[in-house]
Amino acid sequence: MTQRVAVVTGANKGIGFSIVKQLCKQFDGIVYLTARDIIRGYNAIRKLKQQGLNPNFHKLDITDDDSISTFHDYLKEMYDRLDILINNAGIAFKESATEPFSIQAEETLRVNYFALRKVCKKLYPLLKPHARVVHVSSSSGRLKSISNESLRKKFLDPNLTEEELDNILHGFVNAAKENRHLEEGWPNSAYIISKIGVSALAGIHQRMFDSDPREDLVVNSVHPGFVNTDMTGHKGILSPDQGAEAPVYGALLPKNTDIRGKYVWYDKALVIWAKT
Ligand SMILES: NC(=O)c1ccc[n+]([C@@H]2O[C@H](COP(=O)([O-])OP(=O)(O)OC[C@H]3O[C@@H](n4cnc5c(N)ncnc54)[C@H](OP(=O)(O)O)[C@@H]3O)[C@@H](O)[C@H]2O)c1
Repeated sequence: MTQRVAVVTGANKGIGFSIVKQLCKQFDGIVYLTARDIIRGYNAIRKLKQQGLNPNFHKLDITDDDSISTFHDYLKEMYDRLDILINNAGIAFKESATEPFSIQAEETLRVNYFALRKVCKKLYPLLKPHARVVHVSSSSGRLKSISNESLRKKFLDPNLTEEELDNILHGFVNAAKENRHLEEGWPNSAYIISKIGVSALAGIHQRMFDSDPREDLVVNSVHPGFVNTDMTGHKGILSPDQGAEAPVYGALLPKNTDIRGKYVWYDKALVIWAKT
C-alpha cells in the first residue's frame, strides 16, 4: 500500500504548526506543512526537524487558484491520494483595525470561507476511502451568533447547496459594502459570518460525502478553543498544542466513526451547531 498523506493549511505558525507537530507524532503517513510564504514555511519545518520530526513542505496560498492547482498536481503526481485535509489557514482583523467594515467583510470572507471552499473543491477528488477532513471553525461559528430568524432559516435548510451557501455569504458582503448589514439582521462581525459559513459548509460536505462512492469520507468543523497565537494577540488561554488537540482528533477519527458532519468543541465534545 502507498503511504497515506496528510495536509495542513496555514501551518507555519500558531495552531496549524502544532497540528503538524502532533500529526507527525500520531499519524502513520506523510505530513505536509503548507504555508503561503516559502521562507516562513521552511523556518517552521526547520523547527520541527530540530525536535526530531519529519514533515514535508509545500507552498500553498489558499487564496491563489494557481497555487492550489500546483499543489493539487504535485500531490496527484507524487501520491495520487489524500487521507487527511485540515483547513486551518485563516485571518481575523484586529479590533483596532482601521480598514472600513466593507473591506474587512470582503477580505475575511474571501480567505476564511471562499478560499477554503476552493481548496476543498480542488483537493477532494484526491481523497481516498476513510479520509478525514477538518474545517477549523470557531466558537464564533455557532449559528446562534445570528439572531435574525429569516437569516438563520437560510443556513438551516437541510438541502442547502454549496452554491446557495456562497450566495448567502455574498449577500452579507454586499450588504456590508452598502452598510446595510445591520439592517438586514447580520451581526457586526465578518469573522463570525466567515466561521458560520465554514461550519455550514462542513454539513453540506458531509452530505456530499455520504452519497460519494468512496467509503467513509468524513468532515467535521472544529472550534480549537481560545488559543495563545498571533491571531488572538496572545491573549488566548490555551497553548497552540492544546488548540491543536481537537483538530487532530477530527483528523484521526477511526474507521466508520459516527462523528460526521458535526461541530466539535475544543474539549472534543459535540456541540449542536444550530442550537440557540
Ligand atoms: N487562536 C484562536 O483562539 C482561535 C479560535 C478559534 C478559531 N481559530 C482559527 O484557527 C485557525 C488558526 O488560527 P491561529 O490562531 O493559529 O492564527 P495565526 O497564528 O494567525 O495563524 C494563521 C495561519 O494562517 C495562515 N494564512 C493566512 N492566510 C493564508 C493564506 N491565504 N494561505 C495560506 N495560509 C494563510 C497564516 O500564514 P502567515 O503567517 O503567512 O500569515 C498562518 O500560518 C484559524 O482558522 C482561526 O480562525 C483560532
